[in-house]
Amino acid sequence: MPIPKAELHLHIEGTLEPELAFALAARNGVDLPFADTDALRAAYAFTDLQSFLDLYYGLMAVLRTEEDFAELADAYLARAAAQGVRHAEIFFDPQAHTARGVAMGTVVEGLGRALDRSEERHGVSTRLIMCFLRDQPAESALATLREAEPYLHRITGVGLDSAEAGNPPSVFREVYEAAAALGLRRVAHAGEEGPAAYVREALDVLGVERVDHGLRVMEDPGLVERLVREQVPLTLCPLSNVRLRAVDVLAEHPLPRMMAAGLMCTVNSDDPAYFGGYAGDNFAAVRRELDLGDEQLRELARNSFLASFLEDDEERRSR
Ligand code: ADE
Ligand code: ZN
Repeated sequence: MPIPKAELHLHIEGTLEPELAFALAARNGVDLPFADTDALRAAYAFTDLQSFLDLYYGLMAVLRTEEDFAELADAYLARAAAQGVRHAEIFFDPQAHTARGVAMGTVVEGLGRALDRSEERHGVSTRLIMCFLRDQPAESALATLREAEPYLHRITGVGLDSAEAGNPPSVFREVYEAAAALGLRRVAHAGEEGPAAYVREALDVLGVERVDHGLRVMEDPGLVERLVREQVPLTLCPLSNVRLRAVDVLAEHPLPRMMAAGLMCTVNSDDPAYFGGYAGDNFAAVRRELDLGDEQLRELARNSFLASFLEDDEERRSR
């Protein structure tokens, strides 16, 4: 039995497996620039975050209808459940869809259809987190928030993702203030490829409650002290960090040092179709390569529920 856990850092578009991508391409009449699933998988040799993002955004062309988004999410939830995930807080990238003519409502209602039946079908409770693309202008993020207003009953929070280097969190101050005024929870990717200073900005300027990645915080001891004191959760993604070359090899991942420092760490899968594993695979990999013991794995699993946006009573039930 895999250890029960919550997944807090998961891009639904990053769960698009090659087989489903080709099936949706055929159904929607989309031409993919790959001969077959093997050729597509062979392209998953990333050199950095941008090399991944280019393929990730390109493959989204196959996602067109509500049914496509529902199938994508349902397939993820089935896989996650099989690996012990009891609760999933799922990111989506609306601008990557609206920019190609797929309406916000199509995306949210499609994902919502799968999420609505997730507890019954898979035993997985869910939340949706809408991410803004930090390599697009702040005005586009603000317009996206306005477009999402009719669907806020389905959306728990906002996040910030895409190319980090040179795109600091502070640019998005206004849209995060507007999101907070709407009662949305706030998270942001920071310290994946960008510096520890971006983690400080995400906390101080955007008011985030969790930091997605935060891999580079160890470069700033003062920041570590603060994150420990405030017990700010970090949603780490070890297999992602290896595939995107944020760390050279998993055995050198800072997770054990971060835990030893008292940081509130969680382990997540990011874009599992591209990075070689779902939540349970990430747990297994850190156990094996980083020599984590049972007590540390239990701590990671416990943190995942504590850091979730579940209410206290829901949290206790799902553990
Ligand atoms: N979008 C999807 N996966 C991402 C990642 N690891 N970092 C930034 N943006 C992303
Ligand atoms: Zn991510």
